[in-house]
Amino acid sequence: MNKVLILSGAGLSAESGIRTFRDSNGLWEEFDVMEVCSAEGFIKDRSKVLDFYDMRRRDIADKQPNAAHLMIAELKNAFPENIAVLTQNVDDLLERAECTDVIHLHGTLRDLRCESCGHIWDIGYGPVKGHICPQCRSGNVRHNVVMFHEPAPEYQTLYEKITECHKGLFVAIGTSGQVIDAGGIAKYFRFSVLNNRDPEPSMDYCFSKVIHRKATEAAPEIRKIILNFINSGELA
Ligand code: APR
Ligand code: ZN
Repeated sequence: MNKVLILSGAGLSAESGIRTFRDSNGLWEEFDVMEVCSAEGFIKDRSKVLDFYDMRRRDIADKQPNAAHLMIAELKNAFPENIAVLTQNVDDLLERAECTDVIHLHGTLRDLRCESCGHIWDIGYGPVKGHICPQCRSGNVRHNVVMFHEPAPEYQTLYEKITECHKGLFVAIGTSGQVIDAGGIAKYFRFSVLNNRDPEPSMDYCFSKVIHRKATEAAPEIRKIILNFINSGELA
């Protein structure tokens, strides 16, 4: 069976109005990443970090999936066994595009996690304040997003999927490769395609094909490449 691993990053949701991290006007230009997105920052100022994730959770409520989310959802639902959908994004736009089995490598903004028992549950787009764990009633609850210097349990799934799909096609959409080494992953695959709006000189060369366009504009070409690969095992 010809297998495809799709890995997405913030660039996938950029055209839906959700800011990326490292582009100009990215989140890390406005906020100190170590203050609001690190284990140390959370210990230093818990409420500041909780407020930051409340703001990001509120921000995604009125956003809509774009053509690239819809393309991924269409292909995943048509070929559920061939395609693995992994994302670094914590928004719910792939789910709202009705994509099934999305693997969130850095967690999910809509969910909270209990620090006492580990239970994870969906609270929608509202603030964390006032929530207690439905499983153990503890008030020690937090955003279910992986911050820097915290464990990322789903990385185990990433490694498993790389092993499972590595004779196949790797498609990376909208990621700088600064956190998950998409360029290094590409080398494990027979074919690999990178779609970023801007060139990433540190990793473009690792890919069989690079498409420097916005994700929504590149979506039809990526769709064709994936369909052709699933049917023929070749790179269109
Ligand atoms: N279409 C396609 N690609 C785009 C678009 C777009 N409309 N807009 C931006 N991009 C690309 C940029 O060229 C860049 O390569 O998306 C990438 C965004 O890079 P980052 O902001 O670094 O986002 P990402 O790679 O997802 O960051 C990884 O870092 O801060 C952590 O946990 C956070 O999951 C995040 C991780
Ligand atoms: Zn609990």
